[in-house]
Amino acid sequence: MELLVVKNYEEMSKKAASIIASQVVIKPQSILGLATGDTPLGMYKELVEKYNRNEVDFSKVKTFNLDEYYGLEKENSQSYYYYMMNNFFKFINIDKNNVNVPKGTSDDVEEDCLSYEKKIKEAGGIDIQVLGIGVNGHIGFNEPNVNFEAQTHLVELDEKTIKSNARFFNSIDEVPKKAISMGIKTILQSKKIILLATGESKAEAIYNTLYGKISPEIPSSILQLHQDVTIILDEEAAKKLK
Ligand code: GLP
Repeated sequence: MELLVVKNYEEMSKKAASIIASQVVIKPQSILGLATGDTPLGMYKELVEKYNRNEVDFSKVKTFNLDEYYGLEKENSQSYYYYMMNNFFKFINIDKNNVNVPKGTSDDVEEDCLSYEKKIKEAGGIDIQVLGIGVNGHIGFNEPNVNFEAQTHLVELDEKTIKSNARFFNSIDEVPKKAISMGIKTILQSKKIILLATGESKAEAIYNTLYGKISPEIPSSILQLHQDVTIILDEEAAKKLK
């Protein structure tokens, strides 16, 4: 794993955006794996600025998002589809037919999960996957006691995740209890991974990601086995590292 410790959130966002932009410049038809949450917002902003300066062209890019809340329609302002549209896609020249976010509402979840995996495979696999990290070490919505073999599937959210994500909802009761998430196997099949973290609340999860025992209790610990992971941290998130 490559570790980059930068001064602050802005530096982290710039670094991440420049890795993604280089990927797209080198391979215009790149397949990007994207994440939501607060952490990558600055990266998306930087990418939009790069697009506005004509430094990057997204017209041939395809994207696959990591996860979506189960039970939320695309139009719901808390859905990850809505987040992606309003924080990134509507500002760039991506073809909206090339945008993929797991379906939050479905008559046949199993079938939809299988077809999500198939679509990723048919696109040629994810060239670069962006990850944030939960305070409990979750990646995507792969919660502690994860099955490392799983592909895209329906997950039950951890108590800690529900609490932590309540800040985006009017009340904790509104936070969905389930989500559709790429599995660890899906994530590990990406050719390259960048994991972003800022703030002291992530310091322990980051320590465990890098130095913890590889175990289903800390889903992110499995990243130790991937051959091309870059972790970009601000000083606060790197606090527990030597
Ligand atoms: C959410 C998402 C993850 C994200 C994580 C951290 O629940 N499912 O993909 O990385 O939690 O979120 P944040 O960046 O807001 O701290």
